[in-house]
Amino acid sequence: MLSGKNILLGISGGIAAYKTTFLVRLLIKAGAQVKIVMTQSASSFVSPLTLSTLSKNPVLMDFVNEEDGSLSWNNHVQLGLWADIMLIAPATANTLSKMANGTCDNLLLATYLSAKCPVYFAPAMDLDMYKHPSTKNSLDKLESFGNTMIPAESGELASGLHGEGRMAEPGNIVAFIQEDLGKGLPLSGKKVLITAGPTHEAIDPVRFLGNRSTGTMGFELAKKAGDLGAKVVLVSGPTHLNINHNSIQLIRVTSAQEMYEVCHNHYADMDIAICAAAVADYRPKSIATEKVKKKAGEMFIELERTPDILMSLGENKKNQFLVGFALETQNELENAKGKLKRKHLDGIVLNSLKDDGAGFGGSTNKITFIDKNSEIKTFDLKTKPEVASDIWEEIISRIHA
Ligand code: C5P
Repeated sequence: MLSGKNILLGISGGIAAYKTTFLVRLLIKAGAQVKIVMTQSASSFVSPLTLSTLSKNPVLMDFVNEEDGSLSWNNHVQLGLWADIMLIAPATANTLSKMANGTCDNLLLATYLSAKCPVYFAPAMDLDMYKHPSTKNSLDKLESFGNTMIPAESGELASGLHGEGRMAEPGNIVAFIQEDLGKGLPLSGKKVLITAGPTHEAIDPVRFLGNRSTGTMGFELAKKAGDLGAKVVLVSGPTHLNINHNSIQLIRVTSAQEMYEVCHNHYADMDIAICAAAVADYRPKSIATEKVKKKAGEMFIELERTPDILMSLGENKKNQFLVGFALETQNELENAKGKLKRKHLDGIVLNSLKDDGAGFGGSTNKITFIDKNSEIKTFDLKTKPEVASDIWEEIISRIHA
């Protein structure tokens, strides 16, 4: 949810400012770019140098910067426009009151007034200040402007008193924003299982049977699902791909058997499952414990069937929307429809190897989506991220129908 987002963090002068070092780390870990504006008094609680090192951006405090004897202007309008999200944390009673009343006597406030993006604020103060009608008035006013409060938590306060007023913990602030941004997204609240990549079936300790799948299609489907608000379990066979997305749990496996087991461990909890992996259909019947030596003459490896993961998910289906892939070379539509029925699927994505640019390895794909009512939609050749969007559109229109 925060991946690639520009977050403008406004820090005002409360003791909780020291926690913003952790907050910045978490935002960056979630894939966001962070710029920081802080008030002069905030700099007494946390060092601008620490924050600029963590955020990899200069920390701004004044309208004017003096560097090497020359003056430059910190443009609050540009900063406000740069931000996809503005977060004021900690928001002190003083800063909240100024924000509520349009006071503009520091860079943080001028930037707040310039920002057109969603604004979140995390109040932090002593319990009696938090309860004071004038603070309540500021909070109500800010919410009436469409700004979102991340409520203070209860606990021991810097004063030694116990009560409500402690700034929400950094992890809770990040989770709050992620959940809030996710609301209204089409896959919000949905759990999705995706298989991706090839499987490797061991012959001996150094050799395996594999295939040319790179996992790109499955990874793109997972990324899109995460962006659309889902929580994703991505089960991938060996691939060089990686993914850094807060909503995606990547579980790496090697063989079809391992992929089968991980999928079944998660399946009961899922709303949607897409099998995009190129799972080996056969594996060596026995795995040599030592490296197989070469000998004169031919050599044979006896193979046995691997479990059909998609078929087994179909057989165990409760309410999940289940989608498979079919890579066909002849009688494409008929074969894909047969597979859809046999494996109890709700939809199948057909790639024909007759289409240039479709299938394994490449960066493009050309698909036909078929649902269980034999409704068929054929798409043009597109990039794999675009194909992932098309597939999700087809699924979403059916789960919300
Ligand atoms: O029957 P076929 O292997 O062509 O079906 C392809 C679909 O089945 C794909 O969605 C693939 O991920 C899935 N599959 C599987 N387990 C297997 C073989 C294929 O989940 N052992």
